[in-house]
Amino acid sequence: MNGPRKVYIKSYGCQMNVYDSHRMADTLAPEGYVETDRAENADLVVLNTCHIREKAVDKVYSELGRLREMKDEAALAGRRVSIAVAGCVAQAEGKEILRRERAVDLVVGPQSYHRLPDLLRKAEREGHALDTEFPAEDKFDFLAPASREATRKRGVTAFVTIQEGCDKFCTFCVVPYTRGAEISRPVAKVIADVERLADTGVREVTLLGQNVNAYHGDGPDGKAWTLGQLLWRLAEIPGIARLRYTTSHPRDVDDTLIAAHRDLPALMPQLHLPVQSGSDRILAAMNRQHTTKDYLAVIEKFRVAQPALCFTSDFIVGFPGESDDDFQATLRLIEDANITTAFSFKYSPRPGTPAAEMDDQIDEDVKADRLGQLQTLVNRQHERFQQSCVGRTLDVLFEKPGKFDGQITGRSPYLQPVQVMGHPSLIGNIAPVTITGTRTDAKSLFGVVAQPAAQPHNAAVRPVVRRRRTNSWRRCGCR
Ligand code: 5AD
Ligand code: SF4
Repeated sequence: MNGPRKVYIKSYGCQMNVYDSHRMADTLAPEGYVETDRAENADLVVLNTCHIREKAVDKVYSELGRLREMKDEAALAGRRVSIAVAGCVAQAEGKEILRRERAVDLVVGPQSYHRLPDLLRKAEREGHALDTEFPAEDKFDFLAPASREATRKRGVTAFVTIQEGCDKFCTFCVVPYTRGAEISRPVAKVIADVERLADTGVREVTLLGQNVNAYHGDGPDGKAWTLGQLLWRLAEIPGIARLRYTTSHPRDVDDTLIAAHRDLPALMPQLHLPVQSGSDRILAAMNRQHTTKDYLAVIEKFRVAQPALCFTSDFIVGFPGESDDDFQATLRLIEDANITTAFSFKYSPRPGTPAAEMDDQIDEDVKADRLGQLQTLVNRQHERFQQSCVGRTLDVLFEKPGKFDGQITGRSPYLQPVQVMGHPSLIGNIAPVTITGTRTDAKSLFGVVAQPAAQPHNAAVRPVVRRRRTNSWRRCGCR
């Protein structure tokens, strides 16, 4: 008797892709597919791609080359392997992928994942299938929910997409073209998803959206709800102890969100707020629709409401026309806003975006040099933050066994990985941990499970030496 068919899904890029990969697996489960973590064992390989930077596309094509060899070998052994390309590269490149790589059976854009079973049947019948439409129906109404077993396997933390797409059109970014216009899922559907997750033991939910704080889903009262309102409602769901959200835009921060950070204990004190550059000239050329002053003012508002909040951000270096002075302004902003960690990238021209056509593209070595300087500064600030946690007692949500025998690992309210020696029964629970040290590279913390109750995350933090005294974020818990 034939066993179940196996699907291997590889995700590139952001957390929204990880979430989408889970939903694709859930949608394929009723078709008889079980997930495998090895491409060699799979009957179907799905590459869930990212188009945000150049290298990601190159990586996809070289992975497809490897998969072609694997597929050819399997065919010689009489076994059929199907290969699907999903995600933003699928959306952007469409037919070009089928033309360029004969091994690909199926190309599916992010708005059509619910059609995956039909597309697979079509590819089997006709040799290949392509769907990069922005269909009228809402894919979330058709994507299968995760089985209890699948949710349990994925652990005690989960992602839920609440918003997709973007109308901001930053001049460097492909997202508005690959993910389409901004839409928000209705409140009732988000609640149902989070209730289902809580039911299977999920304790922490991260709400996802390309512009998550632009959320304006239909509420049960017939009005559009803000992200702040939604967070309050989700915090009422029994079992849900922690809420996070990502990624936000500084322009879409409203008072309900700031109030939620002030008053809602389940909302974790770490906020990812991309700024991209510290130069107003470059921000204007990027069409970010905010200045550095606006950004710092938003951070100040958050910090007044919740002094413990920690900020992380995204930066692009070497945007067309970026001078050394512009770059120095970015370094100053990282210090002034006290960014504790960041994703940083060399500007990569994306075909079809306005910035790709701009004069004054910057040399790759200048970009590399600036990226190195920026990352050195961010690493220094991150290390300082990690050190400031030593001696504190932080609540840790334990997620899984650690690398070593007897070790378990979890996350602090600030999303720092924390390792302790502890009983596996703590997994899924939140326990106070006294931080005893940091790993040599400061990436994670070590601690011991503490007897007394943990300090709430908004308690005062042991101060560390401040390098700049000119700004006004004195109350920030991260310092
Ligand atoms: N080049 C480099 N980085 C980019 N990002 C988006 N588009 C580009 C690009 N063309 C970065 C931004 C964004 C993050 C998800 O990726 O910093 O916030
Ligand atoms: Fe891209 Fe800008 Fe939209 Fe973020 S806000 S997804 S960077 S266009």
